[in-house]
Amino acid sequence: MNKKFYITTPIYYANSVPHIGHAYTSVVADTLARYHRLKGEDVFFLSGTDEHGAKVNKSAEEKGENVKDFVDKNAERFEELNKVLHISNDDFIRTTDQEKHWPGVYEIWNKIKEAGDIYVDTYRGFYCLGCEAFITEKDLKEGKCVYHDVEPEVIEEENYFFRLSKYGNVLKKAIEEEDFKIIPQSRKNETLSFIENGLEDISFSRPTKDIKWGIPVPGDPDHTIYVWSDALTNYISALGYGRDAKLFEKFWPADIHVIAKDILRFHTVIWPAMLLSAGLPLPKSFLVHGFINVGGQKMSKTIGNVVDPFEVAEKYGADALRYYFLRELSPFEDGDYTEEKFKSAYNANLANGLGNCVSRIFKMALTYFEGNIKRPSDVLLSSVPFREKERESFSVPYIFEHVFWPEYEKNMAEIKINAATDVLWRIISALDSYIQDYQPFKLVKTDKEKTAVILWCLLAGLADLSKMLHPFMPETSEKIMEALGTKKEESEWGDFSLKPIDNLFKRME
Ligand code: ME8
Repeated sequence: MNKKFYITTPIYYANSVPHIGHAYTSVVADTLARYHRLKGEDVFFLSGTDEHGAKVNKSAEEKGENVKDFVDKNAERFEELNKVLHISNDDFIRTTDQEKHWPGVYEIWNKIKEAGDIYVDTYRGFYCLGCEAFITEKDLKEGKCVYHDVEPEVIEEENYFFRLSKYGNVLKKAIEEEDFKIIPQSRKNETLSFIENGLEDISFSRPTKDIKWGIPVPGDPDHTIYVWSDALTNYISALGYGRDAKLFEKFWPADIHVIAKDILRFHTVIWPAMLLSAGLPLPKSFLVHGFINVGGQKMSKTIGNVVDPFEVAEKYGADALRYYFLRELSPFEDGDYTEEKFKSAYNANLANGLGNCVSRIFKMALTYFEGNIKRPSDVLLSSVPFREKERESFSVPYIFEHVFWPEYEKNMAEIKINAATDVLWRIISALDSYIQDYQPFKLVKTDKEKTAVILWCLLAGLADLSKMLHPFMPETSEKIMEALGTKKEESEWGDFSLKPIDNLFKRME
């Protein structure tokens, strides 16, 4: 049986349309999902929208729209973005889906209650609407939420509480012993120090008279389930937990939950505690990325610097945006986007780097051999090795098998996504140097046979390159493979019979 791999994005708030921050997380998760499919694993990749709670409700009211119509419209934009960016999610869960999502939310609530971890008490304190979180003095900077830069509401209400405090020690041990991994280390440390400071029980419901837009507490319609308890459960409700557990049994626990730093605690503390309480297995890992800023500033509607991923994809192509996310930004730190930076990376590495390399090789193969090049014997292949130091006397296919593929695999296994893309751009420059070293454009006049061997090596290199490129830039990878007549499922290259290929990336002025 194939190995299973379950990966998720957060479910994004349907109070607005997507921006490049959402696009970033989805692209990172998609790349990992595609990579694991490429390895032959049985992948389930989930994304979705978080549609309940005070924040969503308030946004709808401000627009004077019916909440359900409002979330339907926004959720649709998130689904459209997935199509535009070639996000290969297997399912898209919406928390307003009463058939698919609600049964799981009821089920986990009941399990937690049966474990004695839900009780009634009074909450007095702060609530940040932006975070949808009960927060303390410690979470504020100059009296304001650090993420939303607004003063929290002060509330006093009778709520159902979740006995989070009970799970501090178990969680600490599970994290230290890597029962679940938090990547990178800095986010693991942050989680541990949060736990070491002492976990308090948290409110798990809001009074229905104040918050109607949500899922009622089982058996007590005067209370609405806290939106985060509702939202986190999406990761198992989508697999049928609480209704039809077939997918749940196959895919749970999650192999990777991809999130950003803003929702760390909900995921690495509250979610695992809920699972422990309900007697369910813990996720295996969390990939916690940083934030994309725009021109050094946090993206915000007030500043007016929110970047629309649809616009970027329309102007430059989805793969170009994916490239920027995956190679020019680090998955572990904050990154910056400006159109300038984007354009200059695009011209240097896509129009020039990748695009040029592909078109040069195709042009020679098509002009000199009408695109038909037979696979040479191994002896002939060894006669035209890469000429870089250390690699002397190794044929091109040998170097791919023993150097490039292992480096790529190692980086991907360690989720070093941009290091893996660096391998791809090293391959591009290795192919360029190979052309420089053998000068097939001159050699063709004197030794056509040897030129054919060199070109076969270059095409085989492109075939490997396009296969490796698939998780990152699926459309570009597909175009190259289509023109080469190869498939990503193959790993040996035979005779080539090429089709012409269009310019992959137009230079931008
Ligand atoms: O928090 N840079 O939804 P959300 C990078 N519904 N990533 C960003 C980003 C930025 N500037 N801004 C947002 C919620 N993101 C909850 C989640 S999950 C059970 C519930 C990405 O719409 C990043 O992944 O505020 C972040 O964690 C997520 O969007 C927050 O999306």
